[in-house]
Amino acid sequence: MRSYFLSGIAILATKGVSAQFVSPPTDLKTAKGYLDLPVRYKQVPEGICELTPGVKSYSGYVDIEQDQHSFFWFFEARNGNPKDAPLTVWINGGPGSSSMLGLFQENGPCRLDADGNPYSNPYAWNNVSNMIFIDQPTQTGFSYSKAISGYTTAAGSIVQLPNATCPDYAENCATYSAPIFADTANSTAAAAPAMWKTLQGFMGAFPQYSRKEFAFATESFGGHYGPIFNEYIKTQNEKIRHGELHGAHHIDLKTVLIGNGWYDPLIQYAAFYNFSLENTYDLKFFNDSIQTMMYQNMYGTGNCYDQTVNCYKNGIDDACAAADSFCYDTVEAVLDRYTGRDEYDIREFSTDANPDPFPPTFFEAYLNTPKVQQAIGAFVNFTGATTVGTAFAATGDDDREDGTIEALSKLVEQGVYVIMYFGDADYICNWIGGEVVAEKVNAPDYCNAGYVNITTSDDIVHGQVKQAGHFAFARIYESGHEVPFYQPVIALEMFERALQGRDIATGKHSVWRSGYKTVGSVKSTYREGNGTVQFEPVDASATYNTTTNQPNPVVNGTASGQEKKREVLFRPNRK
Ligand SMILES: *[C@@H]1O[C@H](CO)[C@@H](O)[C@H](O)[C@H]1NC(C)=O
Ligand SMILES: *[C@@H]1O[C@H](CO)[C@@H](O)[C@H](O)[C@H]1NC(C)=O
Ligand SMILES: *[C@@H]1O[C@H](CO)[C@@H](O)[C@H](O)[C@H]1NC(C)=O
Ligand SMILES: *[C@@H]1O[C@H](CO)[C@@H](O)[C@H](O)[C@H]1NC(C)=O
Ligand SMILES: *[C@@H]1O[C@H](CO)[C@@H](O)[C@H](O)[C@H]1NC(C)=O
Ligand SMILES: *[C@@H]1O[C@H](CO)[C@@H](O)[C@H](O)[C@H]1NC(C)=O
Ligand SMILES: *[C@@H]1O[C@H](CO)[C@@H](O)[C@H](O)[C@H]1NC(C)=O
Ligand SMILES: *[C@@H]1O[C@H](CO)[C@@H](O)[C@H](O)[C@H]1NC(C)=O
Ligand SMILES: *[C@@H]1O[C@H](CO)[C@@H](O)[C@H](O)[C@H]1NC(C)=O
Ligand SMILES: *[C@@H]1O[C@H](CO)[C@@H](O)[C@H](O)[C@H]1NC(C)=O
Repeated sequence: MRSYFLSGIAILATKGVSAQFVSPPTDLKTAKGYLDLPVRYKQVPEGICELTPGVKSYSGYVDIEQDQHSFFWFFEARNGNPKDAPLTVWINGGPGSSSMLGLFQENGPCRLDADGNPYSNPYAWNNVSNMIFIDQPTQTGFSYSKAISGYTTAAGSIVQLPNATCPDYAENCATYSAPIFADTANSTAAAAPAMWKTLQGFMGAFPQYSRKEFAFATESFGGHYGPIFNEYIKTQNEKIRHGELHGAHHIDLKTVLIGNGWYDPLIQYAAFYNFSLENTYDLKFFNDSIQTMMYQNMYGTGNCYDQTVNCYKNGIDDACAAADSFCYDTVEAVLDRYTGRDEYDIREFSTDANPDPFPPTFFEAYLNTPKVQQAIGAFVNFTGATTVGTAFAATGDDDREDGTIEALSKLVEQGVYVIMYFGDADYICNWIGGEVVAEKVNAPDYCNAGYVNITTSDDIVHGQVKQAGHFAFARIYESGHEVPFYQPVIALEMFERALQGRDIATGKHSVWRSGYKTVGSVKSTYREGNGTVQFEPVDASATYNTTTNQPNPVVNGTASGQEKKREVLFRPNRK
């Protein structure tokens, strides 16, 4: 099984009191979404994350089922009239990874400093679009089934308490979503309707922000979510067109962006081996015997490749789940085990004792303060509950291809602008595998395109793109898994070009012009070398510098700076 870490939450509150639990909000407004879906929401006060005066923000829940409450947090576009701006949804992966990661670590309106104070992110994606962040499927992040008082066992399972009093023996007392498997999804396909309903709810309650085109942006396990959810949206649109879905809203899907996606395990498990042999940071991870072992674990008879083929063929839950565990333990995790390097950014180390401090996790504590919980109308704590991950693990969804590549081909065929981008220092969903996936999408004329530099307003080359018409594959240099954190300038400009239907390389050409394609090299050959690679664990108090592409030097870094804010609640695999 994939590992989920629910680690060392600093217990700040005293035991035997009820202060550790969330007081249910009493000030939510109600509205009706499309399909008459109930929506409960509030306007988030200025200063909670969005600091730009006059830019409105709303958060709340779409009640998609009796016991499925889907959390959203919406931000108006900062520039221009938000009523004329496109609407973009952002979801993180996991499965079970909260979109609060994307919001606070990547492309949301704010970041948090070590003292828990928000500061504005000038490269927020709501500079150019209305943005909605959704926690899905239910029981991810702030989305909940039933809100219960509980605590967690050492193994991470949630135990319900009879009342909101934290007994002395209990660890991590908090308000949790009751871990009910029937009230979440256990596969990508099963999660699609819930996501669609959440959008129907929001769009009906906030029609003023849903007047223009719709874009879908996601990451990591979003390599599954993005293609499948959007094919579902397209199918629903067709049903609406044929008068089969009364009260539902046509979603005008124009753009799909997927960062460091996990699409096809057969390709991408193999890509761990290829990446370890040859990467552009001049890192040789293993000696020959480990390298041989990894190859054997991948391709030896009955090993990862064979097991995954078997999963693809027979689709049996147990076979897929077992294959995924095997591939994870014997292929993917070899890096962690023998090098201690961070799967999300190979330039740095990450171990239990010394986790990679980037991107910072200060937002987890912020989201667990009464002030912020009240401001956003949360019903549950922000915790590392693993219900969703466990549910998906049981079907082995991570080891399935799920039709993701075919769905992408279809989206392209249906006129959706599809952009796959990859931070090239990421290992877990690395660009070596991504490049092979992109070829398999087989977009018209893509095989005749070549790599060109991407130009941005800062005149620094942050990556290359290979594009034909409205399909693009971008490699981003000096970036770990979460591209908007490591490379905010190109992330925002790429996003804006995508929304405008312009080419990723320059932003000057319409991708709808017939015959547009990039003319360049067959391979993307730029090498960073080891200039930004760290050979010591980074001090936990360090800050990341997006100009030098490495940590700022720590002046007299001490252990005291370290302990302070390492409250890693949740570290799902494909976040
Ligand atoms: C984003 O929008 C804000 C508010 O208009 C502006 O201050 C900031 O400069 C913009 N950022 C970029 C990168 O253009
Ligand atoms: C809450 O539950 C505990 C058992 O965990 C019990 O001892 C206590 O009396 C209950 N408190 C209230 C106010 O019901
Ligand atoms: C890995 O490298 C081998 C040998 O060059 C190649 O045949 C294969 O397609 C590569 N696979 C991936 C996923 O990069
Ligand atoms: C290769 O590395 C492994 C793990 O670090 C070590 O146990 C083994 O002795 C090394 N083998 C050789 C031949 O150096
Ligand atoms: C849960 O939220 C409450 C209320 O804001 C807070 O006091 C408590 O520390 C939170 N619990 C955790 C584990 O973060
Ligand atoms: C997945 O969910 C479906 C629908 O709730 C259920 O029928 C099925 O048994 C679940 N699969 C596993 C492996 O738990
Ligand atoms: C592309 O960018 C690289 C730096 O990454 C530069 O050396 C090269 O000259 C650029 N190529 C073109 C055609 O501008
Ligand atoms: C970094 O790369 C250079 C050039 O490839 C090499 O000489 C040097 O040994 C490398 N440094 C480390 C610490 O591996
Ligand atoms: C990043 O590094 C550059 C070059 O060393 C320096 O001028 C700049 O102040 C640093 N930025 C931050 C935010 O520390
Ligand atoms: C850093 O440590 C050195 C040596 O202990 C000391 O002389 C210096 O004053 C310290 N600097 C700061 C900024 O604390």
